[in-house]
Amino acid sequence: MILRRFFIFCLINKFISGANILAITTLLSPSHHLFNDVYLFELAKRGHNVTLLGHDEDKHNHPNYTHIIMEGVYEKLKDHFDPMKMKDLSHWETINLLWSFSEITCILDYETEGLRKITRYPDDFKFDLIIWDSTGGQCLFPLVEKFGRPPMIAINPFINQPNTFKNIWQSYIPFMTLAYTDHMSLWQRLESAFLNTLTEVSRIMFFLPRQLELATMYFGRFNLNIEEIERDVSLMLSNHNPVFNYVEALPPNVIPVGGLHIQPKTLPKDLQNILDMSKSGVILFSFGSNIRSKDIGENKIRAIVKTLSKLAQTVIWKFEEDNLPGLSKNVHIRKWLPQNDVLGHANTVLFITHGGLLSAHEAVYNAVPVIGVPFNLDQLQNVANYVKKGIGAKIDFNDITEENLYNVIQSVLNNKSYKENVKKLSVLYKDQQDKPLETAVYWTEYILRHKTAQHLNLATRDMNFLQIANLDIILICLLSVFLLLGVTVTCMCCLILKRVSKQTVTEKIKTS
Ligand SMILES: *[C@@H]1O[C@H](CO)[C@@H](O)[C@H](O)[C@H]1NC(C)=O
Ligand SMILES: *[C@@H]1O[C@H](CO)[C@@H](O)[C@H](O)[C@H]1NC(C)=O
Ligand SMILES: *[C@@H]1O[C@H](CO)[C@@H](O)[C@H](O)[C@H]1NC(C)=O
Repeated sequence: MILRRFFIFCLINKFISGANILAITTLLSPSHHLFNDVYLFELAKRGHNVTLLGHDEDKHNHPNYTHIIMEGVYEKLKDHFDPMKMKDLSHWETINLLWSFSEITCILDYETEGLRKITRYPDDFKFDLIIWDSTGGQCLFPLVEKFGRPPMIAINPFINQPNTFKNIWQSYIPFMTLAYTDHMSLWQRLESAFLNTLTEVSRIMFFLPRQLELATMYFGRFNLNIEEIERDVSLMLSNHNPVFNYVEALPPNVIPVGGLHIQPKTLPKDLQNILDMSKSGVILFSFGSNIRSKDIGENKIRAIVKTLSKLAQTVIWKFEEDNLPGLSKNVHIRKWLPQNDVLGHANTVLFITHGGLLSAHEAVYNAVPVIGVPFNLDQLQNVANYVKKGIGAKIDFNDITEENLYNVIQSVLNNKSYKENVKKLSVLYKDQQDKPLETAVYWTEYILRHKTAQHLNLATRDMNFLQIANLDIILICLLSVFLLLGVTVTCMCCLILKRVSKQTVTEKIKTS
């Protein structure tokens, strides 16, 4: 019996080890890479041969983890795009910017040697699986066709979107750039539904056709349409944990692996020393990888420097210059930080953050209260979520002054309820059957074993928007009601008319 089990185990394992995997990750965002990279590297460590097509450089030097870099795109994009400007855009302008951001990325990708390298792979080169960061890159889908349409997994380091698995047209999920929680007023739901619909319509009418046009321009004739390939994706790994994100009804093939990137490591010596020595607590200050603190403007930098100098705590600030004049002794700047490990130190008492999703997961995981300064996209609702869950406070970037910032820092530090709430959340967040990375690897190998998870699809993937939202039914009901009303009114009118005409006839007879 045991021998037989062992034999079956070996048989299954034989199938799943040493798969050839291509990852297509095109969104220009170091935080996306951070998330994807932890997962892909883990697959390589488990004996798979992983090829990453992306923009972020390799730091691993592992024989089975090859990076094909689409070089120079980050630098060129800087001429087209300033993340600081995004916070002043309307919702519609933000949606448009996302589409054009994707388009510019495609055009820049097409000029790279990296992309030429993968397109020169022999046509009979076989990948067993394609992993696609579903936040962009549809213009590279001809590669899926080139490699014979192997099974596909989507990975999404961002908040859940309604389109890929067509299930999230939920009334309680706010549109991505709205600062609402899952409990919305009628007006908020109206606004959210309108923006969700607008995004999906513009995606189908403008974004996807443009992606197809670009793909055809670069790769030549393309036999599939983009939506068909998206429909082929059998499983999605999503940066979702219901303890922090909204509680959502997810289909069984959307696998929540929120915080998968959190892998505690030992701190570098200098930081370890600073943290160990700071008995009155450490505040971590970071606006993430897209917004650089050095770019937020003279006035704001000066206000922050002054505020921090008044604090009893030590501050570690992610600031992308070697020197910042006027800095007080309690403030240390670093161009880069192992953020999760700083948050994991027992002396860290507060995290001042832009509210990015990865940072949000790290704060909850490590039970550190937060002050959110949201700039764009999901940051607004992540920060709304901190406030709703009582684990932190919000301050608008435009409201940052020496006085305001100082007050909000004091109010969070001096109110024990934030720490208590985030501690409770942290315990719940970590109480999972398997670690998220383990779950992600399990489902990846599930797809390698079975080639698909289409048997786990919600039927909604084959339905249109009207059907999914039951709008057709509602329409039929409304029409029926109107018809019934119409018939009733007509009948009543007839009856009244008949009676009236009868009366007039009898009156006429009487008078005559
Ligand atoms: C690399 O992958 C091959 C299969 O492609 C496997 O046999 C080998 O053990 C892997 N090497 C390492 C160091 O994981
Ligand atoms: C592993 O991936 C690399 C990079 O794509 C490729 O050159 C190599 O041929 C692959 N190895 C196998 C055994 O397929
Ligand atoms: C402490 O913070 C909570 C929010 O988490 C708030 O409801 C409460 O009023 C605050 N207490 C004081 C004394 O400010």
